[in-house]
Amino acid sequence: MKRAMQAVRISGFGSAEDVLEYADVPVPRPPGKGEVLVRLRATSVNPIDCRRRGGYGRALLRLRGIGGFPQILGSDISGEVVAVGPGVSELQAGDAVFGAKSPSIHGTYAQYCLVKAAEVVRKPASLSFAEAAALPYAFLSAWAGLTDAGFRAEAATGRRVFLQGGTGGTGVVTLQVCRALGAHVAVTAGPQGIDLCRRLGANEVFDYRTQDFSRHLDRYDFAICLADQSEEAKMISILRPGPGTGYATLVHPLMSLVDAKGLLRGGIQAVRIFLRERSSQKRHRRAYAWSLFRPDRAALELLAELAEKGTVQAVIDRAYPLSAMAEAHEYSESGRAKGKIVIEIE
Ligand SMILES: NC(=O)c1ccc[n+]([C@@H]2O[C@H](COP(=O)([O-])OP(=O)(O)OC[C@H]3O[C@@H](n4cnc5c(N)ncnc54)[C@H](OP(=O)(O)O)[C@@H]3O)[C@@H](O)[C@H]2O)c1
Repeated sequence: MKRAMQAVRISGFGSAEDVLEYADVPVPRPPGKGEVLVRLRATSVNPIDCRRRGGYGRALLRLRGIGGFPQILGSDISGEVVAVGPGVSELQAGDAVFGAKSPSIHGTYAQYCLVKAAEVVRKPASLSFAEAAALPYAFLSAWAGLTDAGFRAEAATGRRVFLQGGTGGTGVVTLQVCRALGAHVAVTAGPQGIDLCRRLGANEVFDYRTQDFSRHLDRYDFAICLADQSEEAKMISILRPGPGTGYATLVHPLMSLVDAKGLLRGGIQAVRIFLRERSSQKRHRRAYAWSLFRPDRAALELLAELAEKGTVQAVIDRAYPLSAMAEAHEYSESGRAKGKIVIEIE
């Protein structure tokens, strides 16, 4: 086993060009109980990586003990297991795996990464490492939103789902999964993303720059915000009354309020906004959630199964080598990506 590996780390907050450093760093220690060491072949850039690089969420991350430097960012795991820790029976060295790692200062912008065995499953053989890196974090985040809104895989047939932002990394995979499960899916996209959303199976596609989806859609079961929280009222207006319906957003002000106003003032303000909105939806017997990425092995297995069948495909906008991370971050921050920005790791 090598002692040093290539990784991209940050030692302070700032712009992509200023703080992303491609460097030789020590290979992680051998895996402990319930962990595996993965030789990464690919990962991806998620918008949260760029925000964390700029200091977003620092107060809450510090509280969780993951705010120190140097940090290696990155969540998507796609590679081969090289060593397993005590208590890991379902995986062995040589297995190709994919998954997503919870926030950490030892992330996946690296040749090797320690991960919890529960956070990865076998990579479908039909996916390349780059394709497998494009799916897990984005999907599991949106799946957390769908689940919090009340969506269930086993009861998805015929349910009407609105996804605001069909072309982002989260949108392209979630749209395909919802369609594969039998849901009717409407999405919004920019003009260059309309054809892509149709190709991925969306039943209805609205150009968010020129069309108001809320004038065309009614009595939907679920609405998930994957792009712009300022449209929350419109998204909620297309929902039928519950039970069994709901709204969830991945784009909420919790972290930014805490960053701006401190843990106490920011936290209290966030909780107040959340409780006010939730109680207003309760009157209509609808769920209301601010969702966050969370590991979900059953959902990861569902994703693997659908990818293996070919009903869910990776949509890669651009691929960069690990050494070009600053360019990859800048492209992600442009907000123009259609699908995912993948990082290939030699
Ligand atoms: N809470 C969490 O744990 C969590 C987890 C994952 C993601 N997120 C957040 O969820 C959001 C989506 O993530 P992502 O990975 O999908 O981002 P992304 O890949 O950067 O999404 C970019 C896409 O969004 C589209 N878009 C922008 N504004 C839009 C609008 N108003 N309506 C419809 N589409 C719009 C863009 O289309 P155009 O180029 O045509 O504008 C572009 O295709 C981000 O804000 C991210 O930070 C949160």
